[in-house]
Amino acid sequence: MTPELVALMAGQRAYYAARAPTYDDWWQRNGIYDEGDGRNAAWTADVEALQAWLGSQGRLGRCIELAGGTGLWTTRLGRQADELLVVDASREVLTLNRARGHPPHVRFRQADIFALEPLQQFDTVFFGFWLNHVPNSLRARFWALVRGLLRPGGRALFVDSAAASTIWRFDESIDRQGDRIQQRELDGAVFGVVKQPLAPDDVRQWLCAEGWWADVAQTNEFFIHGRCEPAAVEVVALTCTCDIAPVQFEGRTRDDRPLYIRQHEGPATVCIGRPRETMAAAVQGDPQFLVPLLAQDDARNMLDDIARWCDLTLPDHIAGL
Ligand SMILES: C[S@@+](CC[C@H](N)C(=O)[O-])C[C@H]1O[C@@H](n2cnc3c(N)ncnc32)[C@H](O)[C@@H]1O
Repeated sequence: MTPELVALMAGQRAYYAARAPTYDDWWQRNGIYDEGDGRNAAWTADVEALQAWLGSQGRLGRCIELAGGTGLWTTRLGRQADELLVVDASREVLTLNRARGHPPHVRFRQADIFALEPLQQFDTVFFGFWLNHVPNSLRARFWALVRGLLRPGGRALFVDSAAASTIWRFDESIDRQGDRIQQRELDGAVFGVVKQPLAPDDVRQWLCAEGWWADVAQTNEFFIHGRCEPAAVEVVALTCTCDIAPVQFEGRTRDDRPLYIRQHEGPATVCIGRPRETMAAAVQGDPQFLVPLLAQDDARNMLDDIARWCDLTLPDHIAGL
């Protein structure tokens, strides 16, 4: 991360920590968010549509909620999940979330999403009103984390603000990375917050290009909801280009996309479909998969672990091994 991005993400975390006591006003249309009976009723109808959509997803099994906040979704998720781990960077919001009172199968962890490693896997990864806060340059890394957190057959579910409903009220600018930054004032302090406009078709197309099966739709006006699952990848050719650290493989998929795997001190990174010349750099900062290092005894075992984790089908012959 560049120093600018580190500062932006720290400011965003600080903003939500400071806003914790009044955060729910937005959802409940209180105070500055009160737009009068007609608009509030339209909002409430969309909230109910979103909640019904989540209910229609059935049992969530072992679930992780990323950026769980004050718990606007935690209680519902807890009812649908067998186990729920709620992660958020802010101690302040997690204190409010806990105070709602949750059964013992709901647990909490204070952590920065961008520093999380997928050390456990879940049936469902859920995030509410988080995706719009992910800067463009961290988007691939975030989705690589989501993929790494999903067990084979698992799915990600998300709800968020619809593009048209995010462009009001705050001063906005576009930074050098193309991120839309809103200036949010709270008790005299001003915080820069990333607020990406999310249109269902754009989100779906981006996910499909990154190897996800995705279904993204909009409620009447205010929200989007999405469900996506990693698409399995068939690898038809693979060559080990270096079997001592860093371990590297290059290959191609059945649909003729280049594939690059690299492991060096920490999780393995896997990139599919990036242009060849940018792939080595992309793997460092822009992977599609982040795989915790499992087998280290030899390259073939490690590769088998990576394939299981990422749902890759490997060819029988791997050149260079
Ligand atoms: C818009 S709120 C969404 C909260 C909740 N999911 C909801 O739907 O109400 C964004 C949340 O992201 C959390 N957050 C911001 N940056 C984070 C980071 N880097 N890692 C983890 N959580 C973060 C904030 O503390 C805040 O609770």
